[in-house]
Amino acid sequence: MLFRATFGVAPLVAASAPGRVNLLGEHTDYNGGPVLPIAIAVRTVVAAGAADAGMLELISTRDGQMQRIDYRSGGVAGPGAYVAGVMRELAAAGTGPPGGGASVAIASDVPVGAGLASSAALTVAAARALDLLGSGRLTARQLAGVAFRAEHDHVGVRCGIMDQMSAALARPDRALFLECASLASRHVPARAPLLLVDTGVRHQLASGALNERRAECEAAVARLRLELPELRWLASWPAGWLPRLKRALPEPLRSRALHVVGETARTRFGAQLLARGYLKRFGVLLFESHESCRRLYECSAPELDLVVSTARRAGALGARLTGAGWGGAVLVLLPRGKAVEAKVVRQVRRGFKDAYGREPAISTVRASGGLRREPVR
Ligand code: GLA
Repeated sequence: MLFRATFGVAPLVAASAPGRVNLLGEHTDYNGGPVLPIAIAVRTVVAAGAADAGMLELISTRDGQMQRIDYRSGGVAGPGAYVAGVMRELAAAGTGPPGGGASVAIASDVPVGAGLASSAALTVAAARALDLLGSGRLTARQLAGVAFRAEHDHVGVRCGIMDQMSAALARPDRALFLECASLASRHVPARAPLLLVDTGVRHQLASGALNERRAECEAAVARLRLELPELRWLASWPAGWLPRLKRALPEPLRSRALHVVGETARTRFGAQLLARGYLKRFGVLLFESHESCRRLYECSAPELDLVVSTARRAGALGARLTGAGWGGAVLVLLPRGKAVEAKVVRQVRRGFKDAYGREPAISTVRASGGLRREPVR
C-alpha cells in the first residue's frame, strides 16, 4: 500500500523477516560461540520494484521520509544506509535488480533500539526482496550473509551473525541453536511460556559500546595467543583453563573474556535443557547469564536489573537482558500456568513505576517463523 501510494505502481516483489529475542548466548556470536534466539511475531516487510540504474528510492513507515540515493556511493544515513549496503552486496554477488536500481517501501512493527534486532529484520527482508528482483536464487543462509555484510561492512556496526541467521532461518515453536564459528545449526523445541519486558531505554549501537566491547574481545584474543598460539575465537578458550586466562589478562579484558567463556558453556548446556523441556534448570542459566552480563560484560542498565530482580522475586523461573544490552528489553521465563504470570506482570509494573515513574511495555512472546516471501498488492 505504501509502495503504491509513493511510487504510483504496484511493487514487483515483497518479502518479510522477523525481529528476534535471544534466549541465551549474549555477546558470544562475534566471539565464535553459540547463540539460541527465537524469532518473534513483529516483522519488517519490504516491497520492491525497479528504478533507474544506480538509484535507490526508499520510503519507510517509520518516518515517512523519502530517500533518493546513489547506492554505490557511501555516506548515507537511516534505513537507506542498510538497504544500500544490501544492494552493493547483491551486485557483488551477481544478483539484485537487473536494471541496477530499485524502489523500496518498508513497513515495520519491530521497535528500534529495543534489542530485538530491527536492523536484521530490515536487511534480511530487503536482501530477499531485491534478490527476487534479480536471480532469486540465493538461499536463506546466503541472504543472511548478504544482510550481515550490509550491516557490518557497509553501515559499520560490528555486530555478529546471530540476528541475520535468526531472521533468515527461524521456525515457529523452535529456537535456533547456532554455533557462530562453524555456522552449524539445529532447531530446538522451544514451547516455553515467555514474557518480554521492554524498559523503553534506547541505545545507539553503531557509535557505541558494542564496537568498544568487540575491540576489547579482540585485544583479549591477541594476548591469549601468547598462551595458545592457535586460538582464533575467544569462545574457543578451554573452559578448564580459567586460572591461566585470569593470569594472562588485565582488567577489563579478563572480565569480558570470563563472560564469553562462561556464556558459551551456558548456551550449549541450555540448548540441551530447553530441548528436553527442563525449564527450571534452563531458567537458572538465564539468571546466571544476566549476572554475567551485568558484572563481567557490563552491558546491563539499572532498569534491566530492576526488572530481572523483581521478576525473580515474583516467581519467574529465569530472566535476563536480551540483545546487546545497555537498555532494551528483558526476557522472562515463567512456569507453566497463569498464576505466576499475573504476579510477575503486576509486580514488575508496580516496581518499575515506583522507580521510574512510568510503566514498561510487557507482552507475551512465542517462537515465530523466519523470512518469507509476501504476496504483492
Ligand atoms: C547485537 C548484535 C548481535 C549480538 C548481540 C549481543 O544485537 O547485533 O550480533 O552480538 O548484540 O549478543
